[in-house]
Amino acid sequence: MQQKIIIAIDGYSSCGKSTLAKQLANELHYLYVDSGSMYRAITLYFLRNSVNIIDKKQVKKALNNIHLSFENNGETGKSDIYLNDEYVELLIREMIVSEKVSEVAALQEVREFAVAQQKKIGEKKGIVMDGRDIGTTVFPHAELKIFMKADISVRVQRRFKELYAINPTISIDEVKQNLEMRDYIDSNRAISPLKQADDAIVLDNTNLTMAQQLKLALKWAEEKILAMGIMNDRVIKQKKSNKEEV
Ligand code: DC
Repeated sequence: MQQKIIIAIDGYSSCGKSTLAKQLANELHYLYVDSGSMYRAITLYFLRNSVNIIDKKQVKKALNNIHLSFENNGETGKSDIYLNDEYVELLIREMIVSEKVSEVAALQEVREFAVAQQKKIGEKKGIVMDGRDIGTTVFPHAELKIFMKADISVRVQRRFKELYAINPTISIDEVKQNLEMRDYIDSNRAISPLKQADDAIVLDNTNLTMAQQLKLALKWAEEKILAMGIMNDRVIKQKKSNKEEV
């Protein structure tokens, strides 16, 4: 049987992490988990319930009332997130959530809540997870870690295109400000800030097509899967020869 690995994809906002993660999971028949959607769903709950994020008691109480789950969407082939059994996949992408999510994701209680669930989902391996701290905190032993980058102008254009399709009143400036603000908060927070893991491979996709970046990442994944298979074969052989020697 083929060995299964964990693939951790981290990087700045709107670098195309989820696109690559989804495609990789599809090619390898792995599970894809968008960890950012968990922070977004928590933020949506906080906004709806006017949770004061400075008040730890309120934050803890709110988290106790949050149940997050994923369900496979037959049409998109992606897992959609549910907040207390409500489909929120589209609502959590709105600007009102994007404006608040980095502040919410910086809270210790929120990170502990989300990271515990993310670790549990990855127990069986065969998973691609994208986010900001996947290779550093959630899966520090992931076999493949990819750190994604792209020029800010390219990222703004990509994100603007996505958001404009849902909301034609949005401006390029608004999108740029939001990306820069989130990158700043995500990279400078005290707990698990966004940073490249020492053993991550950098993927700068400023001048790459989606097909080119997928080809590269698949090659890295296949090398890791092969290396893991060889390693396991060696362990089995070693165990066998130890038995024969006894
Ligand atoms: O990937 P995204 O843009 O949907 O993530 C939304 C926010 O959630 C992002 O600005 C920072 C936070 N986040 C995080 O702190 N840790 C993660 N593993 C994923 C996202």
